[in-house]
Amino acid sequence: EKDKGLIRDSWESLGKNKVPHGIVMFTRLFELDPALLTLFSYSTNCGDAPECLSSPEFLEHVTKVMLVIDAAVSHLDDLHTLEDFLLNLGRKHQAVGVKTQSFTMVGESLLYMLQSSLGPAYTTPLRQAWLNMYSIVVSAMTRGWAK
Ligand code: HEM
Repeated sequence: EKDKGLIRDSWESLGKNKVPHGIVMFTRLFELDPALLTLFSYSTNCGDAPECLSSPEFLEHVTKVMLVIDAAVSHLDDLHTLEDFLLNLGRKHQAVGVKTQSFTMVGESLLYMLQSSLGPAYTTPLRQAWLNMYSIVVSAMTRGWAK
């Protein structure tokens, strides 16, 4: 319950500005693994990561990812209701060539974004609470990926 409070409180303001925070997250992701950029078919239209991250198609995916996180935060009390959606989402990413290890890297980028936006409010318990929630999401996506 304490974990849920930490997540909800920290997401309250971040969730209102999904695109800018999502851009911080994906900028970090493409720093950690630039090859991920090439998995987006529409990335052929742009040169480097910053340029891609300002293209409408990329911003749409950034928004989609943030909406999934938003859904997880809204469903902290009943995350299992997202199971089918997440299984399906994992399967779709398998189809577009995303490896499951990359989901973990998105998690690292999420923590990076939280740390840079929350500053001193980014504490060890908060980090752990987010990791726990994100690992539930990734676990369902990974099961769907492998199906
Ligand atoms: C769709 C790539 C991670 C959420 C897609 C698509 C691509 C893609 C190529 C299809 C085109 C599109 O809709 O833009 C990636 C890559 C990732 C990644 C390279 C890096 C690991 C994630 C994560 C989430 C997510 C972690 C959510 C937690 C979505 C959603 C869609 C999508 C909601 C739309 C699926 C649909 O059409 O039903 N992704 N993705 N993605 N992605 Fe990702």
